[in-house]
Amino acid sequence: MNILVLGGGGREHAITWALAKSPRTDELYVAPGNGGTDAIATNVSDLDACDAQAVLDFAKEHNIELVVIGPEAPLVVGVADVLREAGIAVFGPDAQGAQLEGSKAYSKAFMEANNIPTAQYATFTELEPALAYVRELGAPIVVKADGLAAGKGVIVAEEFEDAEEALQDCFSGAFGEAGSRVVIEECLTGPECSLLAFVSNGQAHCMTTAQDHKRAFDGDLGPNTGGMGVYSPVPIVTADELAEMREIMQRSAEATARDPFESDYRGVLYGGFMLTPQGPKVLEFNARFGDPETQVVLPRLETDLVDIMTAVAEGRPEDIELEWQDQWAVCVVLASEGYPGSYEKGKVILGVDEAETIDGVTVFHAGTTKNYDDELVTAGGRVLNVVALGDTFEEAREKAYEACALINFEGKQYRSDIGKRASLGREAWA
Ligand code: AMP
Ligand code: GLY
Repeated sequence: MNILVLGGGGREHAITWALAKSPRTDELYVAPGNGGTDAIATNVSDLDACDAQAVLDFAKEHNIELVVIGPEAPLVVGVADVLREAGIAVFGPDAQGAQLEGSKAYSKAFMEANNIPTAQYATFTELEPALAYVRELGAPIVVKADGLAAGKGVIVAEEFEDAEEALQDCFSGAFGEAGSRVVIEECLTGPECSLLAFVSNGQAHCMTTAQDHKRAFDGDLGPNTGGMGVYSPVPIVTADELAEMREIMQRSAEATARDPFESDYRGVLYGGFMLTPQGPKVLEFNARFGDPETQVVLPRLETDLVDIMTAVAEGRPEDIELEWQDQWAVCVVLASEGYPGSYEKGKVILGVDEAETIDGVTVFHAGTTKNYDDELVTAGGRVLNVVALGDTFEEAREKAYEACALINFEGKQYRSDIGKRASLGREAWA
């Protein structure tokens, strides 16, 4: 079958890579794609993934039988709704379902209504009552812009003044429309862990756990980023915690299909958890695969991804059976100097092929493209995702770092401690 993937980051390279392995895949298109997807699919760089009509026209013209929506933006504007209405199978929830990610206030109300464990919270549209709530709860406290803010709308305020500043920023338009409403919530503590699930018809099929590293520098220091590295599974999660997280994902999936939420949820539900002393609590839901979580989850998946995605898209969750490789996966992100601030582009990248000769290593591209001389060059803040599989956690880490050392571009920056804390055990979070 012909398949169109929307998006152009490391997540979409990993999805495209997994789809390309299926014997069921004929033509594979990625819009806009990147320097990595270019080698295994056809990039459609001029198709706007948020323009539902343009996507529909493309799909009809190229006999697309399945559209896979990678990022949140097209989901929130309802691209899945338009395609499904026209009879095209889509992997991705409708606009209503995507509100779980598109509005933090909505998401919290959903959790509250369905007894999903989460941080205590309140929603505000004005500064004064928001400040009064911060005074009542006390710092540390978390301020979240309601809408999509490209991962920058969450401020963990250590002091009252930080929260005050964050609230002033939100209400003065620093996050645009996304910040005109804010969620303020209790600050939770503990290790974070993501659990993604394929959701269709109110049924959840959970994938395996993964843990992202959001801060830019070693030791979890520096500014927040889109993610600097990740591993899967998460060794410090107990069997009881995993069971609780799975139960929460199943109950959430059921609630997506039920009145009053009643969405047509056929895609991935991403549960971002904090493992608190009172048990796992949901920090956030996303309506899509995680980036970079996908880059360590899909290489461990043994089941054919086309089979899974068509079953999800056609509302046949009973046909899904997930099988996982019994290996560890570690991913290290190679970024441009200056990221997450400003950075230069167009630096020539060398050594990717050599890195991939290491057994178990795959390099997913995030921000790359080809220049006029057909050389691979940097084109984004996060440039490459170096993924290694190993029989032990340590082996996967070592291979990933060995591969990172073989790849070069001017200004290459990466964390040297991905997975280090997990290898020290649960006490490292005390
Ligand atoms: P979110 O986009 O909601 O996942 O928030 C981004 C990051 O902010 C999370 O990965 C956590 O590190 C942190 N965070 C969010 N909510 C809380 C909370 N209630 N308590 C502590 N940290 C939080
Ligand atoms: N890795 C976090 C996210 O995809 O939202």
